[in-house]
Amino acid sequence: MTRQGHTPDVRFPRVLGIECVGEVVQSTGEALPRGASVAAVMGGMGRQYDGGYAEYVVLPNERLMRVDTNLDWSDFAALPEAYLTAHGSLTALGSFGGGTTLLVRGGTSSVGMAAVSLAKARGWVTIATTRNPEKVELLLERGADHAVIDDRSIGRSVREIRSDGPDYILDLVGANTTIDSLHLVASGGTVCVTGTLSGVWHISDFEPGAMIPSGTKLTSYSSHNVKSSEGASVLQAVADGVARGVYYSNLDRVFSLDQISQAHQYMENNLAIGKVVVLV
Ligand SMILES: NC(=O)c1ccc[n+]([C@@H]2O[C@H](COP(=O)([O-])OP(=O)(O)OC[C@H]3O[C@@H](n4cnc5c(N)ncnc54)[C@H](OP(=O)(O)O)[C@@H]3O)[C@@H](O)[C@H]2O)c1
Repeated sequence: MTRQGHTPDVRFPRVLGIECVGEVVQSTGEALPRGASVAAVMGGMGRQYDGGYAEYVVLPNERLMRVDTNLDWSDFAALPEAYLTAHGSLTALGSFGGGTTLLVRGGTSSVGMAAVSLAKARGWVTIATTRNPEKVELLLERGADHAVIDDRSIGRSVREIRSDGPDYILDLVGANTTIDSLHLVASGGTVCVTGTLSGVWHISDFEPGAMIPSGTKLTSYSSHNVKSSEGASVLQAVADGVARGVYYSNLDRVFSLDQISQAHQYMENNLAIGKVVVLV
């Protein structure tokens, strides 16, 4: 996003990278001894101060989330931003019990697949979208109960699965699908807009009273201020779940730091299905 100019407050030169994992080399925090494995996301890293595309990263102690894990670095690196964002979004949506139906628009994205994993573990029924029929099998393998092809109109397919609409929708596609999501969600349900995969950020002529059905709720989630204490316990549970095979790391491909431009190209050409990790 930053390289494409979507974070205009960033001043260059700046080391990019909004998330990272690694080992503590030196710290002023007693709870962060040398050698501890940690993760960090957002909070200004890679934007207001230098970020994760580096051998060494200097971060505020409160950014660091300690996670004890034997996962490979590449699998561990695939978890923080995707799973913390998915967890935060599901929390923003609410907490119905088992049987709650969740539709994830942009289901093959890293955040989308993480959300499906977490929702599945809560006993929710999950429907995930992709524009690409070749990815349907993968979605089902990663735990989606239903996969729907997003050919711009998904209402009919979704209502064939849940006639009165899903209880929740996690919309990662963006402002161009938000209004449709608000009309697709069950009456009184909630839509959380967390992503803008379409690149569309604004709803033109937004008129809440006319565009949000009565009683339906619209919310959003941002990982910007994720608290390290809460994030660490979420990530610990996720890392343990990945180690047990309950969750997936959704790691697609690993690049080295000197291949960073190829890594960006790979993502921009929509070749990744899951996380792209850079190892140093
Ligand atoms: N709010 C937050 O705190 C937060 C945090 C992290 C990420 N995000 C946002 O969440 C979204 C997902 O992030 P990510 O890193 O998980 O993405 P990602 O893994 O890079 O997602 C790639 C997938 O998105 C789908 N996609 C691409 N363009 C699309 C379009 N125009 N319409 C519908 N689907 C499209 C493609 O799936 P198919 O080819 O299968 O359709 C593609 O495989 C992004 O918008 C990101 O900026 C928000």
